[in-house]
Amino acid sequence: MVYSSKKLFLFFLSCIMLTFNYNTSGFVAAANSIGLNYGLLGDNFPTPSNVLNLYKSIGITKIRIFDPKTEVLNALRGHRNIEVTVGVRDQDLGALSANEEAVKGWFATNIEPYLADVNIAFITVGNEVIPGPIGPQVLPVMQSLTILVKSMNLPISISTVVAMSNLEQSYPPSAGEFTSQAREQLVPVLKLLSQTSTPILVNIYPYFPYASDPTNIPLDYATFNTKATVVQDGPLGYSNMFDAIFDAFVWAMEKEGVKDLPMVVSETGWPSAGNGNLTTPDIAGTYNRNFVKHIVSGKGTPKRPNNGMDGFLFATFNENQKPAGTDMKPIYKLF
Ligand SMILES: *[C@@H]1O[C@H](CO)[C@@H](O)[C@H](O)[C@H]1NC(C)=O
Repeated sequence: MVYSSKKLFLFFLSCIMLTFNYNTSGFVAAANSIGLNYGLLGDNFPTPSNVLNLYKSIGITKIRIFDPKTEVLNALRGHRNIEVTVGVRDQDLGALSANEEAVKGWFATNIEPYLADVNIAFITVGNEVIPGPIGPQVLPVMQSLTILVKSMNLPISISTVVAMSNLEQSYPPSAGEFTSQAREQLVPVLKLLSQTSTPILVNIYPYFPYASDPTNIPLDYATFNTKATVVQDGPLGYSNMFDAIFDAFVWAMEKEGVKDLPMVVSETGWPSAGNGNLTTPDIAGTYNRNFVKHIVSGKGTPKRPNNGMDGFLFATFNENQKPAGTDMKPIYKLF
């Protein structure tokens, strides 16, 4: 079934509103909040200022954009209550990793003009570049940007967004460990972040492991739709796969000597179409509503209880100009 992105967007809003009604006191006031990914690879979106008005109307206070698009950053001027995460585009990393002057130029062009009236909280260096062939370009750019914002005394955190494919093992969570490539590319990044307790941003999609084994993985476990313990891991009981994946990453970091590093969930969500009865608006709505409740509850995960986290849903819109790829996500993003 093909849904227009407008319909899907309204559907998405209704999911959020439902949660809002369900938990009016918690949603806006909670310390842990929901953000939205605002992808821009499409030609059928509302204008950025209309998008921001929609965000405001539903209490969204964090957005993540994948590149420093002038139109969006201009529209954000004056909305200082919206915390913005801005990405350095993957294709710019090569030039930026080669020299610090290039990083200064990037910052002067893409960030500095907005500092006075846009609340830029994070700059993320690359999106799911680690693990991969250009993964080694991330660390030098992060180092240059970290030095730069420190020298300017700016409260901007410098981090990167990484994929779950850094995990060699994730089941049970306590067996979590990184791949050898992640050990080379990610661990130095985690050590840099540890020096300043800056969060690592991770994309967590329980949909993918679920879709690879839907007969053995209960759908309710994948969509936060049960309170029963489904996976018992030593003293820790898991009723949802999201927490299990999150904690596998925490265990993997600990095994590399990285303890207590905060994690932000930079993307999660469930496709609403594209893979038969595993991807329906109903399931996607269930996942999103339950994810929002989980974050807003501040419960944390079994390994990090009461240690709330921020989470960004993917995504605001279906991006109709996204290139199709071998990875399923670009073909049918969430909304
Ligand atoms: C999808 O359809 C198959 C075959 O009818 C069924 O066994 C399975 O339970 C369905 N899955 C979901 C999530 O509805």
